[in-house]
Amino acid sequence: MGVYGRKGPWIRFAEKHLLVCLSVLCVFALFSCGNGNGGLEESEERGDGLIVVGYAQVGAESAWRLANTASFISAFESDPRYDFRLVDSHNDPARQQAAVYDFIAQEVDYIIIAPVEEDGWYEILSEARDAGIPVIITDRMIAVSDESLYVCWVGAGFLMESLVAMDWLNDHLAATGRADSPINLFHMQGSMGSSAQIGRTSGINSGISGNSNLNLKEQQSGDFTLEKGKELMADWLQKYPVSEIDVLVAENDDMAFGAIRAMQEVGIKPGEDIIIISFDAGRNAVQAVADGLINCSVECNPLHGPRVKEVVDLLETGETPIKTQIVHDGKYFDIHNAAAEVENRF
Ligand code: AHR
Repeated sequence: MGVYGRKGPWIRFAEKHLLVCLSVLCVFALFSCGNGNGGLEESEERGDGLIVVGYAQVGAESAWRLANTASFISAFESDPRYDFRLVDSHNDPARQQAAVYDFIAQEVDYIIIAPVEEDGWYEILSEARDAGIPVIITDRMIAVSDESLYVCWVGAGFLMESLVAMDWLNDHLAATGRADSPINLFHMQGSMGSSAQIGRTSGINSGISGNSNLNLKEQQSGDFTLEKGKELMADWLQKYPVSEIDVLVAENDDMAFGAIRAMQEVGIKPGEDIIIISFDAGRNAVQAVADGLINCSVECNPLHGPRVKEVVDLLETGETPIKTQIVHDGKYFDIHNAAAEVENRF
């Protein structure tokens, strides 16, 4: 039971101790039959001593996201003190907020949020605070001026990642004798309003304004998905001859893979005819760098599960975690290091 402890859920306990609980449930059912009070509510009132943690996840839009979800599941489910409840928000801010309201109604002990969008959190986080439920923000950030609305944030340095990417591009152009040539850049953004998009777009824009040879030809969202990345690239390939497309910067690996497919379908050689830069540096993308399809992928580390669990463990002992925990070590993968690193990637 936590500092802000509440009663644990009967149902979750039953999942973990199925055989024993089935018989207990039968007895429970016999005695409670006909009171019309619904199993879950009644079960929650009983409590079982587990620490209940609700995670409102963004969705399942990318390989990064799947690795992130898996890292939370393994961190919390390997510790028998925890009852970990995961909700997939399907990239829908309204659905995510409904999930958080639901966690408040369930009286969970902790709420973890990977916000779909930065905006719109004041009211709901005020309710969580009034209910005495600590909120931990992870991955993306929220735009609130009142820092007491959340315990801490654990996530990646999106702006820094994009500065690394733009530095890599300048170095690459210089190394290939194109430092003084005009370069047309196509920018595929992530889901608009997410801090991953806001941070990366801001770094990419500043890289563009810092190099007068870079011309931004297109800047549009591919929503962090392979399908939308492919669609968007196919549109651009209809609109421009390949000779006018020098660089594609895709704000994640999945959109880059979509764009690669669109290029290959019309006989364009990705990584050769068009320089491709992506973010995340998942295993498949780093393999694609080694294969010459992507020129550079900048790391965004998704393995926040153990980090956030450490925060919750700390809160359980009454200690105060560090407020802002940025996970960024400036790693990127290009032809020089990709092949050796594939096996180490998520
Ligand atoms: O918020 C992290 C971003 O969200 C990742 O870069 C992207 O792949 C994901 O969908």
